[in-house]
Amino acid sequence: MINDLVRINIKNLKPYTSARDMYSQGILLDANENSFGSIVELTGETLNRYPDPHQLSMRESLAAYLGISFSKLFFGVGSDEIIDLLIRIFCDPGKDSIMILEPTYGMYKVSADINDVRSETVLLNDKFDINTEAVINNWNKRIKIIFLCSPNNPTGNLLNNNSIKTLLQETKSIIVVDEAYIDFAVEGNSCIDMINEYPNLVLLRTFSKAWGLAGIRLGYCIANEEIINYLFKVKAPYNINSFTRKAFQDSFLNISTKNDFVKSILNEKQYLIKELNKIKQVEKVFPSDANFILIKIKDASSNQKLLADEGIIIRDRSSQPLLDNCLRITVGTHEQNKQLIDSLTIILNKQKSV
Ligand SMILES: Cc1ncc(COP(=O)(O)O)c(C=O)c1O
Repeated sequence: MINDLVRINIKNLKPYTSARDMYSQGILLDANENSFGSIVELTGETLNRYPDPHQLSMRESLAAYLGISFSKLFFGVGSDEIIDLLIRIFCDPGKDSIMILEPTYGMYKVSADINDVRSETVLLNDKFDINTEAVINNWNKRIKIIFLCSPNNPTGNLLNNNSIKTLLQETKSIIVVDEAYIDFAVEGNSCIDMINEYPNLVLLRTFSKAWGLAGIRLGYCIANEEIINYLFKVKAPYNINSFTRKAFQDSFLNISTKNDFVKSILNEKQYLIKELNKIKQVEKVFPSDANFILIKIKDASSNQKLLADEGIIIRDRSSQPLLDNCLRITVGTHEQNKQLIDSLTIILNKQKSV
């Protein structure tokens, strides 16, 4: 089934063979590198050499951590790179489409637009969950990928896994489930256990959130080997650089820090929810399984700007479908959250008194 969905030019593509595909040790005079060394030192790293195009040591470390086979893993320059690669593998420009369930993460549509691929939109339901019937009714065979985001950005909620299973069974598309925020949800909600059962499922994850590594640009996907092989076929030869690999490997010496981050963020989220609920002008604090909170508030756009004038930057999402007057607030440190609540209270009180 996967092969039938892949673009013909990608199926026929003779990929770039990199210098390190066959030999990675010995006197390396094959890749026009600088054999004398590099201008910068990074402990234990040989920066004058190209990094491993097969991402082997990284895939092995992550496979051991996740308890899955390394052959189901692929790393990208952020999960954003993988979104783009998937569209390039499966969608013929000018002909094919992706489906997105709005409101959701903006990069699916942007990547599709860049690749001249249409985005078909189906709205989430009033609980911001999948409207399975609408997705199936609007599905057509030009829709090669359906992007789902769970927990969804910017609404914050997990999607229903049974609905995801229905789409995996009932549509002939690749189903991407973007789990960028899954570390903040109650355990057991990931779709990772469905990977062996559904060859058309791709899970996207990132080191930018719970791991605190947005600066190294590292994301990964979990999928069946056929899809993984296509990703390796189309990616730039050495997409993951040595600095990123080093930071990744060091982070595995320190998993407890990641768990502590998650705990602190979840504690602070409860504080923020409690304080936001005390503010009368906040009409709704939506439930969140992520590291951010969506709120509905009077005059959202002007209040977002007034907060920005005070140096507190949150995201105005009110132009998105279903999100009239909605703002998205990332959970900060206790001090940052207190400042947000204080400033918002002052701004809103001023409006009351006018
Ligand atoms: C749902 C979702 N997916 C992917 C990303 C991008 O992640 P990365 O930093 O790995 O490119 C984001 C970033 O905000 C996101 O919200």
